[in-house]
Amino acid sequence: MGDRAGFILLHILICVYPRSSAVQNSIVLTMALLIKNGEIVTASGRYVADIFCENETITRIDRNIAPPKGAEVIDAKGKFIFPGFIDPHVHIYLPFMGTFSKDDYVTGSRAALVGGTTTLIEMCCPARKDDPLESFELWMSQAEGKSACDFSFHMGVTKFDDQTEKQLREIVKRGISSFKIFLAYKGAFGIEDTELYRALKLAKELGVIVTAHCENETLVNERCKELLAAGKTDPGQHHESRPPAVEAEGVHHLMTFAELTGAATYIVHLSCKEALDQAVAARQRGVRVAVETLIQYLTLDKTYAEKPKFEGAKYVMSPPLRDQRNQEVLWNGLRDGLVQTVATDHCPFDFKTQKPMGKNDFTKIPNGIPSLEERVNLLYTYGVKAGKIDLHTFVNVASTQVAKLFDLFPRKGTIQPGADADLVVFDPNYRGKISVKTQHMNVDYSAFEGWKIEGRPSVVTVRGQLAVRDGKFVGKHGHGKFLQRKPSHF
Ligand code: URP
Ligand code: ZN
Ligand code: ZN
Repeated sequence: MGDRAGFILLHILICVYPRSSAVQNSIVLTMALLIKNGEIVTASGRYVADIFCENETITRIDRNIAPPKGAEVIDAKGKFIFPGFIDPHVHIYLPFMGTFSKDDYVTGSRAALVGGTTTLIEMCCPARKDDPLESFELWMSQAEGKSACDFSFHMGVTKFDDQTEKQLREIVKRGISSFKIFLAYKGAFGIEDTELYRALKLAKELGVIVTAHCENETLVNERCKELLAAGKTDPGQHHESRPPAVEAEGVHHLMTFAELTGAATYIVHLSCKEALDQAVAARQRGVRVAVETLIQYLTLDKTYAEKPKFEGAKYVMSPPLRDQRNQEVLWNGLRDGLVQTVATDHCPFDFKTQKPMGKNDFTKIPNGIPSLEERVNLLYTYGVKAGKIDLHTFVNVASTQVAKLFDLFPRKGTIQPGADADLVVFDPNYRGKISVKTQHMNVDYSAFEGWKIEGRPSVVTVRGQLAVRDGKFVGKHGHGKFLQRKPSHF
């Protein structure tokens, strides 16, 4: 029988026979997954139950679900089941500072999944001279057919004129509901104030949320020149060039524009108390603002960037790692709801071949610290296990809140019938250490080499398909889908 005849016969059988027929069952059941006996933990609930998934979604949550014939059954006794984690800030394809960040969607999505992240929201970052629509299509082409996890983009607005506006409207129609603007990196991605004002007005009209890198670029440039003129060229100078006041001014600046336009804003990679104070003060006067911090700021401090023999270059990113005192402020901010999300800003550059571009001039060190694979495990170990945040906050800031802010909820970010079957079966008894030797990220070092991990994802699913089993990647490249999002921040 030819393919087409076979397809027609199958179609007749499905339509004619009742739902319980052998044909229908075999089709449905090959796509069925039952996860039994796990402790489901969401942002607001915690209970033991079985989860049944069919055709990409969760269809039933109950006690003692009998395994249907042909269904894949996973025993999750003694394990937590979390909704798939979402990283709201990653760079997978990024031409930046004269080079390219190292991962692609094959290595990046694999690393994400092994680390429990089932959805990535990548920054689409056209240069000022680039055409936004072409850039959007370029970024999309990097992910489609390669990603093993689901993905979306924040659309970078790196200039704003009539043509850009038209294209941004079209990009929103294609399923993008968030923009990204940079107050730093003038000449590359950075935006002028007139453009910022217009971009925010458009965002307000379209209900799009605007994510923003907040640092005062003029201050950074002047301080860099002064430091270099004084012969201070090592990686440890990077944080001297952009102290907390530089970031706080960036936040204050954005908040003024958000206040006057009424646009919803989201501050990416907030690193310090001074910047958080500005965001909280703005929120108190009615400005619409959410705050993201990074796992790096919660766990590392500026002494890492001061390591001798250029080792500090591994830890150069912007905003920079701060004084340790800020870590407590950020953990408390998560606990108290002042900080909404924890991301990675994953942006890997090799230590041996790329970071040395700034060997004699810290301003030329490609900025970024890889951490996509480690975010969930670090947040659990150094947040939950260390008593800084509870399990629900952990799920909220790394999944649920992200889904809500970026128009993916309740499809993503929770465990309930109808939601995508993106699940993380997490083994709290696992004990291990982070190492470059075992990581999946395509970069030649780990910023967390030797750090202890207490717990890790043992099974991960993406829309009902196994992507990780026994902690090992078993997913399929190309299974990841572009997630269409509709703006809601009117
Ligand atoms: O240092 C960083 N953060 N690198 C990635 C680019 C950015 O600013 O997000
Ligand atoms: Zn940034
Ligand atoms: Zn970034």
